[in-house]
Amino acid sequence: MNTIADLLARDQAHLLHPLHDAALHEHARVWVSGQGAILTDADGYEFIDGLSGLWNVTAGHGRSELVEAMRKQASTLAYASVYSGSSNPRAIELAEQLATLCYPSINQFFFTSGGGEATESSIKMARSYWKLRGQPTKTKVISRVEGYHGATLAAMSATGLSPYWPLFEPRVPGFLHIPSPYPYRYEAPNGESQGIAAANELERAIRREGADTVAMFIAEPVQGAGGVIVPQDDYFHRIRAICDHYQVLLVADEVITGFGRTGQLFALAHWGIEPDIVQFAKAITSGYFPFGGIGISDTIADTLRETGRPWMHAYTYSGHPVGCAVAIRMLRIIKDESFPEQAATKGRRLLNSLRSALGNHPHVGDIRGKGLMCAVELVEDPASKQSFSADRKIGIAVNREAVARGLFSRVKGDCYLLAPPIVTTESQLDKAVDIVAESVRSVLS
Ligand SMILES: Cc1ncc(COP(=O)(O)O)c(C=O)c1O
Repeated sequence: MNTIADLLARDQAHLLHPLHDAALHEHARVWVSGQGAILTDADGYEFIDGLSGLWNVTAGHGRSELVEAMRKQASTLAYASVYSGSSNPRAIELAEQLATLCYPSINQFFFTSGGGEATESSIKMARSYWKLRGQPTKTKVISRVEGYHGATLAAMSATGLSPYWPLFEPRVPGFLHIPSPYPYRYEAPNGESQGIAAANELERAIRREGADTVAMFIAEPVQGAGGVIVPQDDYFHRIRAICDHYQVLLVADEVITGFGRTGQLFALAHWGIEPDIVQFAKAITSGYFPFGGIGISDTIADTLRETGRPWMHAYTYSGHPVGCAVAIRMLRIIKDESFPEQAATKGRRLLNSLRSALGNHPHVGDIRGKGLMCAVELVEDPASKQSFSADRKIGIAVNREAVARGLFSRVKGDCYLLAPPIVTTESQLDKAVDIVAESVRSVLS
């Protein structure tokens, strides 16, 4: 009774899934174990974990150090609140360590159970900051098309992927989106740098809305779920300058990019700028414990401190001792195993191999990536960048072929996404590339 078919029959009777889609779920795998970059399903088949779970399992499966950190902390103190009036040593140590590792101006941290809660926390932090500074009308949130910031109601309203909205409207008022810098598709006016033009979309939106109404701009340094969209090198510089000029807080959503994935510990370091708020989750515990959080700039922290007013935002599991213990152990792994450097080196290999294998394919429009996150965008006609019509479901077909060959990942439309664990071996990376190439050829021969 433990084959995939048996398990799925019971699953379908009682389990509602994130992004629940009964038709898609017909072909679901049921995972029973993992080791390194390999996942094993209930029928005993092995797959390369092409998206590190959901971008989070950077240290790979079966890490006994993380399990031991969890066991040790749970057997000493499994839970205690960190609401004001309580604390625990692991939460204190984790915040201390993050202060030394994160952007220099960010030294104070609030912990959550994941990325969506981190987005909620950033929004509430930004709004409260402006209220405490005597500018209560600064409440709006600007984000980007193709951005993903979570699925709770306010996070969903910041998310710029429209399929997430219709069943749950109305969205929270005061949220608006500007275009993504999307190098493959963004059209800058003649002669203008694409990155500067895309960043100037933010200035236009702030001026249109009125700077006195805008609290924050939130952006993933590399858009992940939206299709691994890597911005132009001049984009975030200009964004920082615009945020400074109009007094709009810059929130870096590093839920995917944080802790090494792109080749830097935190990804805005690629472009030499710092955010006012950084949010993180996923790789901070490599998925071994649901955990996330935000870090705030000294300016914001000073404002909170000086006013002394209670900040009425809270989660029961904020600063969870077991989550903090796993995160602390994970920070050691990241350092000892040089995760940012590994991600940079392996990411270059992955991107170059994908380009060699598929660069000349007549339906490959773009192959892009930064560190160990890549995407292959399939199009009807590379010359015009014309997409396939959605009802052909090309991305889903390619993904199905890849699964049949032993690579498990996700697609966004017709973009095949790859972000395997940082511990993935070179031969596993090469195999993943072979599978993507064969799968594309078999669907689009
Ligand atoms: C950039 C980003 N922000 C926020 C989230 C939401 O995180 P969670 O699913 O833990 O709520 C995600 C999840 O993929 C993400 O990629």
